[in-house]
Amino acid sequence: MKVLVLNGPNLARLGRREPEIYGRATYHELVELCIDWGRELAQEVEVRQTNHEGELLDWLNQAADDGTPVVLNAGAWTHYSLALYDACAQLTGPLVEVHLSDPSQRPEEFRHTSLVTPHAKAVVVGKGVDGYREALAAL
Ligand code: DQA
Repeated sequence: MKVLVLNGPNLARLGRREPEIYGRATYHELVELCIDWGRELAQEVEVRQTNHEGELLDWLNQAADDGTPVVLNAGAWTHYSLALYDACAQLTGPLVEVHLSDPSQRPEEFRHTSLVTPHAKAVVVGKGVDGYREALAAL
């Protein structure tokens, strides 16, 4: 089974970005881990990251057309992008939402809303990069 792991803004800076919140694993390590975990689960995993919202929307639209299962960490777009909400609503395969941190436990009020959750069959938060393994398994 082909699976997309899609990452939104600032996530390519993993390992260097606020490591006390997001951990020390790098984005490159995350990519390798997801591919390995996918292999164990008989999934052909492709991992992508973008800082451009329209690009993420294009990927989600294509996944909707293809019926491809998606693991999504949309970063800050999670909390306010109505276009992301609409793109997730159109998905025809399963969607699992993942976050490295647990946004609901963080002090900023804006992180307590997710526009992805209403469309997700599972949500994995607060487990760092290991959360992606759980998210792949939940598909
Ligand atoms: C994040 C949580 C978001 O609130 C934040 O904007 C991110 C990363 C996470 O993985 O914990 O960019 O999605």
